[in-house]
Amino acid sequence: MNSRCLRVAVIMANDSHTAAQHIEQASLNAEVIEWRLDYWRNLDFNEMAQLRRKMRLPVIFTLRKKSQGGRCERPQAQRWVLLQRLAELSPDYLDLEYDTPVVWLDELRRRHPHLKIIGSYHDFTGTPDDLPALIQSLRACAFDLIKIATFAHTICDTLRLLIFLRENSGKYPMIGLAMGEYGQISRILAPVMGGLFTYGCLTPDAAAAPGQLTMTELTDTYRVHLLNRETAIYGLLGDPIEQSPGHIFHNHAFASLGKNAVYVKCRVQADVLGQAISLLRQLPFFGFSVTIPHKETITTYLDGRCGEAEILSIANTIHRENHRYLGFNTDAAAAVAVLENKISIKNQRVLILGAGGSGKAIAYQLLTAGAAVTLCNRTLSRAQAFIQRWGGAAIDFDTLFSLAEFPYDIVINTLPAEAFAQQCAHWRLPAVSHGIALDITLKPLETLFIQSARAAGWRCLTGDSLFNEQAIRQLRTWFQDSRIALAWA
Ligand SMILES: NC(=O)c1ccc[n+]([C@@H]2O[C@H](COP(=O)([O-])OP(=O)(O)OC[C@H]3O[C@@H](n4cnc5c(N)ncnc54)[C@H](OP(=O)(O)O)[C@@H]3O)[C@@H](O)[C@H]2O)c1
Repeated sequence: MNSRCLRVAVIMANDSHTAAQHIEQASLNAEVIEWRLDYWRNLDFNEMAQLRRKMRLPVIFTLRKKSQGGRCERPQAQRWVLLQRLAELSPDYLDLEYDTPVVWLDELRRRHPHLKIIGSYHDFTGTPDDLPALIQSLRACAFDLIKIATFAHTICDTLRLLIFLRENSGKYPMIGLAMGEYGQISRILAPVMGGLFTYGCLTPDAAAAPGQLTMTELTDTYRVHLLNRETAIYGLLGDPIEQSPGHIFHNHAFASLGKNAVYVKCRVQADVLGQAISLLRQLPFFGFSVTIPHKETITTYLDGRCGEAEILSIANTIHRENHRYLGFNTDAAAAVAVLENKISIKNQRVLILGAGGSGKAIAYQLLTAGAAVTLCNRTLSRAQAFIQRWGGAAIDFDTLFSLAEFPYDIVINTLPAEAFAQQCAHWRLPAVSHGIALDITLKPLETLFIQSARAAGWRCLTGDSLFNEQAIRQLRTWFQDSRIALAWA
């Protein structure tokens, strides 16, 4: 049995013509093909035999029954006849349900000694609490490989499954995948956990299970074929996470820097952050980016804080050092660097919309660089608490909207796009002959704020400029190397 994790392309054609096309397409970046024969309306064994002869990659035949998430509704006796005929076509693997009768397994083994049999368990409702008990009940020894696919309701379900896989993949040849959005990272991290297969679809609309990534994403973005048990994992912690291009930036950076590392985006809801951190500590996660809404609360779960993260109790970066998670803040210095590329900050009058984790970190750094800062926030007390400690002024949005004069040289929006749309729908920046507008929003880059600023003659900087600056600083923190600079960033 090959112990490297193989990329399996799942094809779900319902006729031989489409199957031939999909098999060809899968050959581009898969190492194994799983042929979901339960999707083929009228199984034609002659056509299948022809296609089978042409296949260059190892193949898994699967005739998944309905109760385990498939489309095969045949009665048990008919299924058995079909499975025997399928085995005659010499697939490399046959994927059967975990409760397949032992006499079927014995008969298949007697007639096809080279056939490898996968025992599959699917739970579309959740991830059992007691995974060791589950594997005992699956008769793992009766199969050549055991596949466990369970639904993840939170990131914690996925992390529990990954810990179980990493601890037990030496004992049982295993495939372990968490289904659904929260489980997506399990498809990328399978090689790091010792899983034998990870599954991808050919196109985004052809996912065989919820949360499945495309073969192109697995191969080009995450380089899954190069990952192994020694790979260091880095991740984003946030909710939502769709806006972040961190997986593109950091995986590209790891490849350019020659690091055996991978970056995954973890959607962590606020109410499971503490539990998630203690599970993450049990896996080889060496660093994190932290985004909305966790930049402040995360600091209570860390073992130490450095620089602005210590001063402000706001962290957007975590670095693991000697099994300790240390918090850093790279947003603050990055915002100053982005602005300093255009203008000297000293004595500039800066308005910051939003006094959340990012707004306050940027405000602090600008005050330190000698700017006069006004923080504008929906919850005025949050901005006031900051300025009482660090200086500057605090206003609410009603005050901003009623200003007779607009006394600012730089305006920075740190409100998420929807928040800005709700709060500032009718507000427009005044026309100016000079002035810089920075929006740190990442999706979209051309926000309402930026559109309004462009129309009024402000020089505009979009969220990608800040993103690149803070992400390079994260890389320098994680690898303790201040020389890291990326030509493409
Ligand atoms: N480009 C980059 O590299 C980069 C870096 C960091 C952050 N970001 C982006 O910046 C944004 C903020 O991140 P964060 O970490 O600072 O978030 P955060 O700590 O959760 O702060 C959110 C801010 O938005 C305000 N807000 C939320 N909903 C609002 C609404 N409906 N009306 C008015 N104000 C509202 C909050 O005001 P209250 O205090 O009143 O709740 C608070 O000021 C996110 O979109 C994030 O993706 C981008």
